[in-house]
Amino acid sequence: MTEFDKAKMFKDKGNKAAKEGKFEEAKKYYLESIKYLTILRNRTKPPISNNYQMMIDAVANLINKLKDKKEKVGKKPGKPYIGKIKIPINLPENCKDLIILTNRDFDDIAGLDDLKSTLKKTIEYPLKYPDKVDKWGFEGETGILMHGPPGCGKTFLIECTGGEFGVPIISLTPDCVMDKYVGESAKAIKETYKCASFLAPAIVFLDEIERMLFSSDSSGVNAQVTSQIMQQLSGITGTALVSSETPIITIAASNHPWKIDAALIRRGRLGKIIYVPPPDKKARKKLFEIYIGDYPHEKGIDFDKLSELTSPDKSSGWQYSAADISHICKEARNEAFELDKEGHSNITITEEMLRKHIRKTNRSISPKQIKDYNDWENRSNESM
Ligand SMILES: Nc1ncnc2c1ncn2[C@@H]1O[C@H](COP(=O)(O)OP(=O)(O)OP(=O)(O)O)[C@@H](O)[C@H]1O
Ligand SMILES: [Mg+2]
Repeated sequence: MTEFDKAKMFKDKGNKAAKEGKFEEAKKYYLESIKYLTILRNRTKPPISNNYQMMIDAVANLINKLKDKKEKVGKKPGKPYIGKIKIPINLPENCKDLIILTNRDFDDIAGLDDLKSTLKKTIEYPLKYPDKVDKWGFEGETGILMHGPPGCGKTFLIECTGGEFGVPIISLTPDCVMDKYVGESAKAIKETYKCASFLAPAIVFLDEIERMLFSSDSSGVNAQVTSQIMQQLSGITGTALVSSETPIITIAASNHPWKIDAALIRRGRLGKIIYVPPPDKKARKKLFEIYIGDYPHEKGIDFDKLSELTSPDKSSGWQYSAADISHICKEARNEAFELDKEGHSNITITEEMLRKHIRKTNRSISPKQIKDYNDWENRSNESM
């Protein structure tokens, strides 16, 4: 390898590390690159040496840019890792309970390609292409509302997002928020965002948000909670996770989106509405593969056929949710377990077992539910 190849290789490595947010590592590579370029400059005469000097200046410039980025990202040195996530040493104890740690990633999810791609753009692009994000003023989303029928993966998707991107997810459930003391619920929201700011870039996940917005004693809307969420969302300026001043994305989930105060569903607040539908044919096949594939099963199971058998009912329009399919697979696995426990030999999960549990399991999503989500989304998009 020539000196020039080495200089180029280290510069490329530096660029890669910088895109991944590993700024210290990037700096080391850039300095190595400069070392080889300096050797070449000293060995040559003008005008060739001038070219090398220009290259040295360009790489030095990249090092200077790193400093800016580091300040923007606000990463503090010396944070230990828990899994893939950097946890600040001074993180308050109560925040640790809110962090979702998981080793699942997008490969564990069937379907939901639109949602995955929106999250990819919002979370991954600023990390992967920091220069282009700056150059074009790329803006991802700051507030996303996922809605759709129960059991189709809203909560599950967010759990997998943590593992996919190594971004901390600070998750708040209604049980943490709903409190009998007035004002305590709004305080919980505020604390959550405070935790997120320690960990930023981060995602705040408000699961079953519609339940958080009402008082636990059923006395009606908890206006303080709504106003606190709005306040926190308005505090988030800029959009890309890395280039924004407050690199926090809020993702809320609901299966009763019509109960949410319309003021929360606006551009700049929960401005991106994404429907999480029941699994289509391809997603249902993948669900069977995910939930059966890793367990002993007979060769040649026709996963396409199973997907067909779990299509929406032609006459009634009722549909299986992803959780229904996961349940069918669980029942088949349990049956195999029982047989194995009883001493039968060479037990595997068979297609017939799966077909039997499909017959035994009712479709849980009605056509009326689907219509309600579609109607609500159309109305909301019109008023935005
Ligand atoms: N797209 C999917 N791919 C793989 N598994 C899924 C998917 N969707 C749901 N599941 C399985 O179903 C379970 C229930 O899904 P989840 O809790 O995410 O539904 P949800 O949409 O949040 O429902 P709810 O509206 O009731 O909160 C998950 O834990 C997971 O095992
Ligand atoms: Mg859920």
